[in-house]
Amino acid sequence: MAYRQADWNEPLIFELSNKGRVGYQIPPLEKEIKAADVIPEAMRRETAPELPEVGEMQVLRHYVHLSQMNYGVNSGKIYPLGSCTMKYNPIINEVLAGHPKITGVHPMQSEATTQGILKLLHTLKIYFLDITGMDKATMQPAAGAAGEWTGIMLMRAYHKDRGDLEKRTEIIVPDSAHGTNPASAAMAGYKTIEIPSGPEGCVDLEALNAAVGPETAGLMLTNPNTLGIFENQITEISNIIHDTGGLMYYDGANLNAIMGWCKPGDMGFDIIHSNLHKTFSTPHGGGGPGAGPVGVKEFLTDYLPVPEIVENGGKYSLSWDKPKTIGKVHGFHGNVGVSLKAYTYMVAMGGWGLKESSELSVLNANYISRKLKDLKGYELSYSPEKPRKHEAVLSAAPMLADTGVSALYVSKKLLDYGLHAPTTYFPLIVPEALMIEPTESEPVEALDAFIDAMKEINDLAYSNPEEVLSAPHNTAVSRLDEARAAHPKTICLSWRRLCQLLLDE
Ligand SMILES: Cc1ncc(COP(=O)(O)O)c(C=O)c1O
Repeated sequence: MAYRQADWNEPLIFELSNKGRVGYQIPPLEKEIKAADVIPEAMRRETAPELPEVGEMQVLRHYVHLSQMNYGVNSGKIYPLGSCTMKYNPIINEVLAGHPKITGVHPMQSEATTQGILKLLHTLKIYFLDITGMDKATMQPAAGAAGEWTGIMLMRAYHKDRGDLEKRTEIIVPDSAHGTNPASAAMAGYKTIEIPSGPEGCVDLEALNAAVGPETAGLMLTNPNTLGIFENQITEISNIIHDTGGLMYYDGANLNAIMGWCKPGDMGFDIIHSNLHKTFSTPHGGGGPGAGPVGVKEFLTDYLPVPEIVENGGKYSLSWDKPKTIGKVHGFHGNVGVSLKAYTYMVAMGGWGLKESSELSVLNANYISRKLKDLKGYELSYSPEKPRKHEAVLSAAPMLADTGVSALYVSKKLLDYGLHAPTTYFPLIVPEALMIEPTESEPVEALDAFIDAMKEINDLAYSNPEEVLSAPHNTAVSRLDEARAAHPKTICLSWRRLCQLLLDE
């Protein structure tokens, strides 16, 4: 389905309305029924609803047109969101997850009748452990953030078991971390200690050494980090944390940059999660439920959630035998449909395919950032000469200082080119951040279209800033009150009131 930009000349469905026209056919009733006879008075409306009176074809076209105005990975030109990454979801994933033999299985069925699905989930776990270099895993957590919280609860259970819970109250988080990291640590009852990044954009070892101590429960780290830079001092970092008795937690959101090339389990991490949507092509957020499996090293196995799928002589069963478990973090085996999409992706790609996908994601991110970093208005923050991994963060700070055009306006203007905007204003350590992640699936033409648009916006900002500052001009609505538009309580389903509420003017 193609992505359609708004057509201002297209009439609204209310303008198509023709008195008496209907879009349904029901056979005439033998006896007329009056609303007053069947609906209690208190439930009857006083005036008829203001609905457009249109034919079936008009209704059909109306909804199809609206659906085409949604920007999707499979309908837009490129989806460059960094960190939150909306990646192509291959159709073959849906074929397995939507197969009647999968959708027809009920979680309360006996083990004897669910051997097939237990085998798939068990095999997925083995692949996951192989890719990440961990020893044991749970598929239960429902997303990356849920995985983080589960992982920190495992850390907590470990320290508690050693009689260390009261003493170890702090978790160290670098300032480049995703906001869910400190949030998960706080939800698990920890105080978070933020450490600054060094001039290279990586963990500052001096700051880390100053922050660690007997209170340290662990460190949460993303590698490559949210600047797209690989933390090459990871062995030193891991030694510092382990020497003080803390544990290393890996935020695996960026596993798609290194998959097949190196493993978090070999970098010294004790607990990891992977956001399946980021690396293994499953839907994310509004696109569907998520999955964030958690892997651990052997010494943490006892604390994992139950039940665990175990294999014995080719037969699969559920083991509840974990007296020290943190309990369940999701019903049954998590979002099984999502897990099976990731399984399909792994099988379809094969080991070499997964390795190549990381390679291409890195190539694509470097292709874009190299072509844009020397333009007047943008700069590649932190170590501009250093290659990036799967994503790169440009700063529009020079453009803002020279022309008054900020990262927000660059993003708005991109919409006029029929392109989705990158992530803006994250990570927080980069002023006027534009975080770009093209992913491995984009062809070079899509990358070039994005680069050309970013160049044109740069030129426009210097020659005619008003044109950028008033963008977007080609979208269905232009400048929304973003805070109100994002607030569920102000959602208004009346087209007239919606326009009144959301338009700036
Ligand atoms: C670095 C990082 N950590 C954690 C998360 C949270 O993951 P999720 O949105 O799956 O909860 C994200 C978002 O994708 C992320 O980019």
